[in-house]
Amino acid sequence: MSLFTHSRFVLAVALVAALGVVALPSVSAAQNDAEVTFTKDVAPILQRSCQECHRTDSIAPMSLLTYEEARPWARSIKDKVITRAMPPWYIDKNIGVQEFKYDYSLTDDEISTIAAWVDNGAPQGNLADMPPARQFRDIAEWKIGEPDWVVEIPEPFVVAAAAPNWWGDLVSDSGLTEDRWVKAVETKPSIEGFPVVHHAVTSMSDPESDDDDYNFLNEYALGKNGDIFPDGTGRMIKAGSQIKFNMHYAANGVETTDRTRVGITFYPRGVVPERELISAHVGDDEDLDIPAGESNVRHDGFYRLKENAHITAFQAHLHNLGKRQCLGAVLPDNTKQILSCADWDFGWHIVYNYEDDVAPLLPKGTTLHVTSWHDNSDANRWNDDPTNWAGFGQRSNDEMSFAWVSYYEIDDETFEKKVEARKGQTDNDE
Ligand code: HEC
Repeated sequence: MSLFTHSRFVLAVALVAALGVVALPSVSAAQNDAEVTFTKDVAPILQRSCQECHRTDSIAPMSLLTYEEARPWARSIKDKVITRAMPPWYIDKNIGVQEFKYDYSLTDDEISTIAAWVDNGAPQGNLADMPPARQFRDIAEWKIGEPDWVVEIPEPFVVAAAAPNWWGDLVSDSGLTEDRWVKAVETKPSIEGFPVVHHAVTSMSDPESDDDDYNFLNEYALGKNGDIFPDGTGRMIKAGSQIKFNMHYAANGVETTDRTRVGITFYPRGVVPERELISAHVGDDEDLDIPAGESNVRHDGFYRLKENAHITAFQAHLHNLGKRQCLGAVLPDNTKQILSCADWDFGWHIVYNYEDDVAPLLPKGTTLHVTSWHDNSDANRWNDDPTNWAGFGQRSNDEMSFAWVSYYEIDDETFEKKVEARKGQTDNDE
């Protein structure tokens, strides 16, 4: 910016300040506010970021497809979007990688648009401006194509009409009698169960391992598709594995039966993909000390990458008292980076999948650093008892602190190539 334009800008700010107007942006926003309407400005935002969940027979409490449906919720919509409680997407927008697959979060501009619409009396606007209704994917359809293998939860799960939220693990035998490499995987509710499945995360056990650990497989949540791994990349599922379904059921006013399942497509027998997609428990801290009433208790954990890594996904794992988690990296030359931070809400276990061309590339010898914060005060709506100390444990009213991180290892040559290609990318952007 030249000195000339700079001084003009300062002058403009000074003038506006003299007139008693606080900041420049609010001047232009005020001019546009009167023109913000549902059909022209708000409906497209709801279509992209809300309607997947907010429509009849989906998981949210009300439908937001039409003006008539949205209008009574205007105030509440404004409250939820300006606090970023809705849509449920809790990545910190000010730090770390910002591009994710299936990102339905709102931009600051979209939030301002919704707020302006509500402040202005939530007008409908011109009917001709209404975009055509959004088409939704058919729940019966597998995004990964017809799978080779399907494992269901052990028994149909019945959610009473007015049941409280239910979280828990349901475990099934996979029935696999040989080790196989997974090419694609998708977890999905049954058609009848769809409206009550808030989310489902599947993981698989390693029958040869002593600890009863399960390894991440896939996440089902509305707005996300199954995982089709890049060619040459796979995940091994071992003979005799069990599949654990971590379920969150939310009642919807009608007794509903669900039978969530996971569908898997294999590499042909005998084909071993070059790269294994690893999902690791990262930065476990089992020595948690969370005093009663404290609202911001920090713990740290570490995990060393023995090989170069391309990180594909990050998911915080905390329990009821979780507040926030950051995933950082300490590189071999001791420089530090924050890859992602996300606020935590126990009601939503979100996997954040990095866009391929911005996914973190970390050289071998990097240490991943997980920092978690817990809130044991009564300000945390998930806290049953703020007068009690909390520590590590398996039950959901015990606490945990680690991240699920998915990555695949790459050799030095490939790593260098990827890093070089990235440099080219940024040069082009500038
Ligand atoms: C991934 C699913 C999902 C998406 C996307 C989503 N919501 Fe929600 N919303 C829910 C669920 C489920 C609830 C019920 C509360 C809960 O479980 O957190 C809810 C609750 C709400 C509420 C409070 C309703 C009440 O009973 O007070 C409002 C308002 C809301 N959502 C607005 C929005 C808006 C606006 C968007 C888009 C900008 C959006 N939501 C996107 C699932 C979603």
